[in-house]
Amino acid sequence: MSLPPLVPPLKCQGIKTKLVGQIQRLARAQNFERWVEPFCGSCVVPFNVQPEKALLCDTNIHIIRLYQDIQQGKVTPGVAKAFLEEQGALLSSGGEDYYYTVRERFNNQPSSLDFVFLNRSCFNGVMRFNRKGGFNVPYCHKKDRFAQSYVTKITNQVRRMAEVIVLKAQPWAFILSTWHSNEFRKNLLLEKNWTGQEFHVLLREHFYHVGSSEDLRHPMVEALITNFAVEQEHHEPEDNSEQLAFFERAAG
Ligand SMILES: C[S@@+](CC[C@H](N)C(=O)[O-])C[C@H]1O[C@@H](n2cnc3c(N)ncnc32)[C@H](O)[C@@H]1O
Repeated sequence: MSLPPLVPPLKCQGIKTKLVGQIQRLARAQNFERWVEPFCGSCVVPFNVQPEKALLCDTNIHIIRLYQDIQQGKVTPGVAKAFLEEQGALLSSGGEDYYYTVRERFNNQPSSLDFVFLNRSCFNGVMRFNRKGGFNVPYCHKKDRFAQSYVTKITNQVRRMAEVIVLKAQPWAFILSTWHSNEFRKNLLLEKNWTGQEFHVLLREHFYHVGSSEDLRHPMVEALITNFAVEQEHHEPEDNSEQLAFFERAAG
């Protein structure tokens, strides 16, 4: 089954989201050591091709800074979520005036978080700068731009980007916690990102007791991904729950 493309947290003109499947197939047919992309833009292509080594360039310093900040853990999913929730609330109450306050703040002192905020709330999601390098895209008249679902979507895009460009390349050991599946759906990103031999996926079924009624409480299979070998571990079931032991299993 072909998976939908991973979508990065940035939008830009000419984004190649619709072509990544084809680019991936072409790239897989080549034997290359390093992926070089001189105009990486949103980075949707390398995000999906996921080469072992890549050289990504762009004259837009804000793009490079954002992805470096994600790579270095300065912009984490939690940081992005908290920022967009807070700034989204200010945008809801301040409207157009607040958008221009952020734009001015960004042009005086650029930051990755303001860049994401502007990129995801400006008119038509356009990325445009004046001759002095100032971001000059006007306000998009959309009520409640940073609604909770939109913030969650962007947060997940930051998370996926971080998983792809941070973790895999790091020389240190890591443990990544994410969900694997429930009775309704499966986390397709596990197959996409973590099938290499160097990664180990531990699964554990967990029964959530948070539903308002019993029929709303469903078991969830949680996953821990490590880049080091792990011993199988046995867990005693917890009281009043259906906890199962962690066990190692292929992610698929
Ligand atoms: C059409 S976008 C790239 C879209 C990208 N393939 C994607 O899917 O998101 C073109 C990018 O080239 C960058 N760019 C333009 N002129 C450049 C130059 N001389 N050197 C490096 N980057 C440049 C722009 O900043 C912009 O991000």
